[in-house]
Amino acid sequence: MFVTCTASAVDPTGFDELSSEDFVTNSKCANCHAILRSQHDDSMHAYAYTDPLYQKEVLLASEDSNGQTDEFCSRCHTPIGVVSGEVPPIDGSMISDVAAEGVQCDFCHTVSESAGIGDGGFVSSPGDVKWGSLDDAPSAFHGSEFNGLYMEAEYCGMCHNVNSPFNDLPLDDTYTSWSESSYAEEGVVCQDCHMSPGITHFEAAPGRSASSSPKRSHIPVHEIVGGNYFMLDLLSDGKAGDAAVERLQKAATLEVDVPEYAISGEDVSIKVSVTNSGAGHKLPTGISEIR
Ligand code: HEC
Ligand code: HEC
Ligand code: HEC
Ligand code: HEC
Ligand code: HEC
Repeated sequence: MFVTCTASAVDPTGFDELSSEDFVTNSKCANCHAILRSQHDDSMHAYAYTDPLYQKEVLLASEDSNGQTDEFCSRCHTPIGVVSGEVPPIDGSMISDVAAEGVQCDFCHTVSESAGIGDGGFVSSPGDVKWGSLDDAPSAFHGSEFNGLYMEAEYCGMCHNVNSPFNDLPLDDTYTSWSESSYAEEGVVCQDCHMSPGITHFEAAPGRSASSSPKRSHIPVHEIVGGNYFMLDLLSDGKAGDAAVERLQKAATLEVDVPEYAISGEDVSIKVSVTNSGAGHKLPTGISEIR
């Protein structure tokens, strides 16, 4: 069973096909993938639904649109809530614990294909098989299969481009601005910077992805942070807020040109240039302006 969300509309007939019980909670995955879980808990993906700013904005949008945005907003913030028909209602009265985990382990690893860039264009196929970028990673708990999508920017692009459902106005264009950058030309993808310690380039993170698995030269880091240090500081008890600050500091170089002295009472002109030297897209990107 699977549900396809396309960029323009979710097929409402698909909703009956899936239930939130088809998805496994993060704590189950953590039995073996404990390190990845603790990294994930330091990422905004873990708070995509419970985020208090989101909770406030989604209700405002619902009021303004007579509920027309309810399913749309929820696609990326609680994808399980949408594919299992627990949202709408938008007030969260039907939401299960697993759907409230937001962009969580099992949802991400049971996306079988992309249905297009932006607006939550994913095909959700929960079940035994967990897809990833390895072709030799057997597990006693689940099937493991290689799926090339997981190594591509298009994977992130399913959710990291948002257009208005009413007039297609781009609201968030991180994927598009990456695709028009020199990084895209050189084949540097989102995962290289956001799932590796390199921050502005790929750097391997050797380790084990599960307690019983072999040591590998690189395990993708699941502390997928951006610039939202404020909310991470508030919601996560880890060092994730600091990680966001470090990322912002590495994104740009700042040059300040000041005169040697200033005369009291006269204007002083100061030249400041900011060069985006480390972000693989515009700086700032995403919905920073909402904040
Ligand atoms: C936003 C979606 C997303 C979330 C949430 C997420 N993952 Fe991943 N995960 C990925 C992607 C994409 C990769 C592959 C990255 C690469 O190879 O560059 C990956 C890699 C992995 C790998 C290593 C195998 C591989 O494909 O390289 C394991 C194991 C894994 N994830 C387990 C988990 C667990 C357990 C959780 C929850 C604690 C989780 N993931 C949460 C997207 C996600
Ligand atoms: C009983 C232990 C166990 C549990 C529970 C478990 N896994 Fe795994 N998983 C493993 C092992 C072992 C591997 C192999 C890792 C390796 O070889 O590097 C693995 C591999 C993976 C891979 C890599 C797939 C690939 O081919 O790239 C993903 C993704 C993954 N697990 C996700 C999950 C998710 C999501 C959950 C929760 C729904 C979960 N796992 C629960 C033990 C487990
Ligand atoms: C199912 C949809 C979905 C997918 C797939 C997804 N994301 Fe996200 N991502 C979100 C949502 C929703 C948020 C915002 C949560 C919030 O702030 O409440 C987010 C937040 C983030 C942030 C933090 C933003 C900030 O302001 O600090 C980063 C960085 C990020 N994602 C990167 C990625 C990368 C890289 C990938 C691909 C490996 C990816 N995401 C895949 C939905 C998704
Ligand atoms: C060359 C490295 C690099 C690549 C490639 C890259 N990013 Fe980023 N990204 C950064 C850095 C550094 C920041 C912090 C500065 C900022 O907020 O723009 C960042 C910030 C972000 C944010 C946070 C924006 C906010 O509002 O705070 C999101 C979301 C994000 N990236 C998603 C993506 C996605 C999705 C892709 C691929 C389509 C991608 N990034 C590709 C380096 C990269
Ligand atoms: C296509 C996926 C998608 C859809 C649909 C979507 N969002 Fe988001 N939302 C995101 C991503 C990704 C981020 C993080 C982007 C970044 O920081 O660059 C985000 C961030 C946010 C934030 C900022 C949270 C914070 O802590 O700063 C709010 C608020 C928000 N969204 C509300 C909404 C509302 C309201 C709707 C419906 C009108 C909506 N979103 C629809 C993907 C989506």
